Amino acid sequence: MSFLQVENIKKSFGKTEVLKNISFSLEKGEVLAIIGSSGSGKTTLLRCLNFLETPQEGRIIVNGNVLFDGNDESKRSESAIRKNRLHFGLVFQNFNLFPQYKVIENLTLAPTLKAKEQIRKNGSYKGLSSMKQANQLITEEAEMLLKKVGLYEKRDFYPCNLSGGQQQRVAIARALALEPDILCFDEPTSALDPELTGEVLNVIRGLKSSDSTMIVVTHEIGFAHDVADKIIFMDDGYIEEEGTPQQVIDNPNSERTKEFLARFNQFGD
Ligand SMILES: Nc1ncnc2c1ncn2[C@@H]1O[C@H](COP(=O)(O)OP(=O)(O)O)[C@@H](O)[C@H]1O
Ligand SMILES: [Mg+2]
Repeated sequence: MSFLQVENIKKSFGKTEVLKNISFSLEKGEVLAIIGSSGSGKTTLLRCLNFLETPQEGRIIVNGNVLFDGNDESKRSESAIRKNRLHFGLVFQNFNLFPQYKVIENLTLAPTLKAKEQIRKNGSYKGLSSMKQANQLITEEAEMLLKKVGLYEKRDFYPCNLSGGQQQRVAIARALALEPDILCFDEPTSALDPELTGEVLNVIRGLKSSDSTMIVVTHEIGFAHDVADKIIFMDDGYIEEEGTPQQVIDNPNSERTKEFLARFNQFGD
């Protein structure tokens, strides 16, 4: 069984069917890139995986655990969803950092809440029984992540004093701080000036070499080709084509995929 299995996901808003029947799988340490035109359902799919939207049908299975089953009411409770959300991390298009908190606090906030809850419930967080010890560990881990994305020196800055590329790198570190099984990116460079996209793409490349399992929705076809183990081309709520970058980008079968890629080659990004 694959590390992530997504089976027959369907999602409608009112009468609009946005995800019509989405199934795919991903192995641990693999990178999946999702490409497709605007409106094809890419963001909705990531939001379903992160439990920000609830699909009407289908199953989501991570590491053998059924996190979502459209036929199982017990998987739909608020507390079940909150717990399941922790399996996935999401980096948004527009960074969404907390503007009122320093960079380091953006990273430590959610793990601190998680530690409080675990100590209250189970008496320990990562083997530590006091919040004082937990806070120290959380701060050390956050500092390590800031080093990983090359921003340790911005530790005490506020987001408004960082460039867009730096904010997005902080957002990536913040997502990693919760140690998700699968890290998802929704067009992580599309809100950035072209000269700032490289630094963000390089951070994502670096994560690939450290064996993170990732799903990246992107318009950067060249980047997808380089970094992904697997490409999905989405069209109108369906997976139109999937395979290796060599299959989907270099030798697409489907006419829709060919048209989409031809538009990119013509106009660039
Ligand atoms: N909350 C919502 N309510 C109604 N329609 C939505 C909602 N979110 C997305 N949609 C519709 O779903 C379709 C797919 O959107 P989206 O997943 O954002 O596509 P993509 O990310 O590929 O551009 C669009 O037609 C969009 O208008
Ligand atoms: Mg989108």
